[in-house]
Amino acid sequence: MGYSMSIGTIMFPLFILLIFANYFMPCKAQLSTTFYDTTCPNAITTIQTSVNASVANNTRNAAFLIRLLFHDCFVQGCDASLLLGGADSERESPANNGVFGYDVIDAAKAAVESVCPGVVSCADILAVAARDASVAVNGPSWTVRLGRRDSTNSNASQAATDLPRGNFNLTELIANFDLKGFNAREMVALSGSHTIGQARCSRFRGRIYNSPLNIDAAFNSSLSEICPPTGGDENLQPLDLVTPNTFDNSYFRNLVASRGLLISDQVLFNGDSADSIVTEYVNNPATFESDFAAAMVKMSEIEVLTGTSGIIRTVCNSTVVNGPVMLNSNGQNGQIMYQES
Ligand code: HEM
Ligand SMILES: *[C@@H]1O[C@H](CO)[C@@H](O)[C@H](O)[C@H]1NC(C)=O
Ligand SMILES: *[C@@H]1O[C@H](CO)[C@@H](O)[C@H](O)[C@H]1NC(C)=O
Ligand SMILES: *[C@@H]1O[C@H](CO)[C@@H](O)[C@H](O)[C@H]1NC(C)=O
Ligand SMILES: *[C@@H]1O[C@H](CO)[C@@H](O)[C@H](O)[C@H]1NC(C)=O
Ligand SMILES: *[C@@H]1O[C@H](CO)[C@@H](O)[C@H](O)[C@H]1NC(C)=O
Ligand SMILES: *[C@@H]1O[C@H](CO)[C@@H](O)[C@H](O)[C@H]1NC(C)=O
Repeated sequence: MGYSMSIGTIMFPLFILLIFANYFMPCKAQLSTTFYDTTCPNAITTIQTSVNASVANNTRNAAFLIRLLFHDCFVQGCDASLLLGGADSERESPANNGVFGYDVIDAAKAAVESVCPGVVSCADILAVAARDASVAVNGPSWTVRLGRRDSTNSNASQAATDLPRGNFNLTELIANFDLKGFNAREMVALSGSHTIGQARCSRFRGRIYNSPLNIDAAFNSSLSEICPPTGGDENLQPLDLVTPNTFDNSYFRNLVASRGLLISDQVLFNGDSADSIVTEYVNNPATFESDFAAAMVKMSEIEVLTGTSGIIRTVCNSTVVNGPVMLNSNGQNGQIMYQES
């Protein structure tokens, strides 16, 4: 009896505390794999059909989609803030100059809206589309938890502050990813997405003419033809010159051969602390793929809006929530959730 008394004495206040916690503390809504099972059971297939068609039309769309998720999630979290247009938006920030694929997201969103209007967030579409893009170019798959909601704002200067740049050294890369909760190994795995896609001369010129990093002589000379010291800023070069349209570990094999395109690529294999991770991914492609998938899941869940935070946008590039834009008597948008753009 003394025993049950003492349990009761402890349990009762605990019980009361739990009830209070439920009432008065914000209950953080969680993402879940079943989020749209009743509200939009075809959402995920609809997105995948749309992404598959876009990638079949242009393989580089796969690269665009994976990069879009990165640039969205690293700035104010995975809230589709990147997609909003207009002055001082992330999208218009110099840090996002050369980011593409917005049209692919718009097409997927339109397809989803036609089956379940107003239900599926743009932030979830970005997350699902990045996974489907990886699969479409032979990369790994992963399970996407759902229930993200969309921001009502974005901030250009935040993009400039939070996104890493192609001339970063290893210390800067590690520090940049650490701010978002990633360790060096996760940073290296995520950099492996440079196994697909292209970069502009303006972004890799420094690697040719202004860097002490090792560079393969033949690679350097072919790059210098594509990218002269001045001019040709928009000329493109694959980030992985061997298999530019296939998701594999060739990116890491290039690094070991001193054929990393960006400074931020080659610093991962330059006699420093990341070398052993690169070597491991060269020797074990399956480890790279599973590390990449796990890091993408983690990246896709940075600072998400859930529950009653944020909104479900009707079109991904504006914060209009429902139907056509209504102008009020001042000639301004009559709806509350609207981003001037
Ligand atoms: C580690 C730090 C990173 C830096 C400094 C960096 C920088 C860059 C730069 C400079 C470009 C070329 C852009 C242009 O020429 O306009 C690029 C392209 C790309 N980045 Fe990264 N990136 C990083 C990490 C990532 C991550 C984490 C992802 C995705 C998970 C990613 C995905 C891509 C893709 C797919 C492309 C090719 C896009 C295209 O074809 O247009 N990058 N990156
Ligand atoms: C999309 O393409 C992938 C890989 O090519 C395939 O496995 C998947 O079934 C396709 N999805 C749809 C919905 O067509
Ligand atoms: C295919 O891509 C081209 C440009 O690469 C674009 O103009 C066209 O609209 C795309 N078609 C579809 C069906 O997405
Ligand atoms: C944008 O972000 C910067 C840096 O975090 C901050 O100083 C600024 O106040 C923000 N601007 C707006 C309009 O919220
Ligand atoms: C990396 O870059 C930062 C900023 O330019 C610089 O302060 C630091 O010395 C560099 N570190 C290395 C190891 O090169
Ligand atoms: C790469 O090629 C450019 C153009 O020929 C040259 O200026 C530069 O010194 C070369 N870099 C190395 C490391 O050889
Ligand atoms: C949003 O995207 C649609 C479709 O791409 C386009 O017609 C419209 O002009 C865009 N609106 C804004 C505000 O950028």
